[in-house]
Amino acid sequence: MLELENITAGYGDTVVLRDVSISVPDGKVVALLGPNGAGKTTLLRVASGLIKSMSGRVELNGEDVTGRRPYYMSRRGLCNLPEGRGIFPSLTVRDNLILQSPKGKESATIERAAESFPALATRMKQTAGSLSGGEQQMLALVRTFASDPKIVVVDEASLGLAPIIVDRIFETLAQIVATGVSVLLVEQYVTRALALADTACLLNRGQVVFTGPANELEGDEIFERYFGIEISA
Ligand SMILES: Nc1ncnc2c1ncn2[C@@H]1O[C@H](COP(=O)(O)OP(=O)(O)OP(=O)(O)O)[C@@H](O)[C@H]1O
Ligand SMILES: [Mg+2]
Repeated sequence: MLELENITAGYGDTVVLRDVSISVPDGKVVALLGPNGAGKTTLLRVASGLIKSMSGRVELNGEDVTGRRPYYMSRRGLCNLPEGRGIFPSLTVRDNLILQSPKGKESATIERAAESFPALATRMKQTAGSLSGGEQQMLALVRTFASDPKIVVVDEASLGLAPIIVDRIFETLAQIVATGVSVLLVEQYVTRALALADTACLLNRGQVVFTGPANELEGDEIFERYFGIEISA
């Protein structure tokens, strides 16, 4: 489905990722884990066309999409859920949903949103920026659903949210996965990410240090063994 091959990328002259390869098969979930500054967000930006790699190749559904812009990627079924959510704060919840919806399916999208998140149902006319952090993240996830993606790239969907909301976010991600959508997931809740993922890919200082079945890894142990970071119990 999504193949990132030998990606070297960064900002200006600064190289952040060196020769990184990741593969997200059809309908599978890959968790991309690593310490702060490892280059996770940068890799998701390359995957979704927000920045161009210096070298390497991006393939989506068998098509070479290296260097393509985000708009092109989204039309090919790749939906990027960025850190910071990517919603339009000054528009209403309803308009945010309509914007992301395929033409002609607007009311179905709004109905589906209201069903999955009753909390949003009563807030359709409120501006997205006036929602709580958790509600904004739910809106962002529902928008992701709305675009009928084949693959979703998610950057720290749980950032800054209360544990009970994080549970809800993971339930929604699981729902998205159950519909056959592939996911490339960056997440600080390592244990939850591993529970959802088929494959884990560990990134440290811009390089892949492990790729393998998610169920062979355990939460905190990862950081000591692969990243040399001690977690005090
Ligand atoms: N727009 C930018 N311009 C210049 N350097 C950047 C930019 N964005 C990120 N970087 C640098 O690239 C490196 C990797 O950043 P990145 O955001 O990819 O890390 P990350 O793994 O997502 O970290 P975190 O877990 O903190 O989100 C960091 O050293 C960061 O300072
Ligand atoms: Mg990041």
